[in-house]
Amino acid sequence: MILVIGAGGQVGQELVENLRKIKGADKVLATDIREIKDNEGPFELLNALDEERLKELVEKYKVTEIYHLAALLSANAEKQVKFAWELNMDSLFYVLDLAKEGVIKKVFWPSSIAVFGPNTPRQNTPQHTVTDPTTVYGISKLAGERWCEYYAKNYDVDVRSIRYPGLIGYKSMPGGGTTDYAVDIYHQALEKGEYECFLKEDTYLPMMYMEDAIRATIELMEAPKENIKVRSSYNLGGISFSPKEISAAIQIQMPNFKITYAPDFRQKIAESWPQSIEDTAAQKDWNWKMKYDLEKMSTDMLKQLKIIKGLN
Ligand code: SER
Repeated sequence: MILVIGAGGQVGQELVENLRKIKGADKVLATDIREIKDNEGPFELLNALDEERLKELVEKYKVTEIYHLAALLSANAEKQVKFAWELNMDSLFYVLDLAKEGVIKKVFWPSSIAVFGPNTPRQNTPQHTVTDPTTVYGISKLAGERWCEYYAKNYDVDVRSIRYPGLIGYKSMPGGGTTDYAVDIYHQALEKGEYECFLKEDTYLPMMYMEDAIRATIELMEAPKENIKVRSSYNLGGISFSPKEISAAIQIQMPNFKITYAPDFRQKIAESWPQSIEDTAAQKDWNWKMKYDLEKMSTDMLKQLKIIKGLN
């Protein structure tokens, strides 16, 4: 049985759906701190900080593989510093320790472009480079990466990870990140024809369409163990664009769409992160290839959201 922790979140919802398609609905146990609507298979409530409950569920469902997605994202974490550190770190240890004991055979844990900081090269950021994060979220992800590698090297734990860029999908909403604008902008474009962006027009960040991100996650987890050379977390390049460029991509289909800018505290976070990422390690080790560029993603996002919102 595969356990997904944080199954109600932006990545969790889509990952559960896809894993169930591949493995069978009854082979994937979705868990979250809140009830999930439209759940198509086994579900249990789980607070990622409740180690006893986690152990209980692992035993009850004979779990052998965990995708641990519960975390506080960059913007939210700045508002609850201590809690973010506790949630993002302690819950990871609970999962890694189960793997150390041998109960769990494989773990996925997401890291982020937030592990990089102001002294990291911002263009084509390499796999191994300066990591001096300035956010609580980034600090917790960097520490988590070090612990993943430590458990892999010292206890032979098969933990795999991706430094996700900002993720953009139509099925689920992000919660409390700096890259959230790139999802919200499509919703507002269709609902209001305009969007007020909390980042400046020329703020470039690495992003990725959800379909690519989910495929990357599953491909990484399915790759032979000996191919996985990076045990901290893999860079994934994705698409690099600015608010101005994403709005231009929307305007191709919606010429009247307007964007305005009112940067807030998230601007500083964005400016501490890379603008584009180099991902040859992922390409070489597990054959990673991205499919969606900005134009293809925008076309699909608007098409799918129109259907969901009944605008056709
Ligand atoms: N999308 C995340 C955030 O903005 C980055 O990993 O916090």
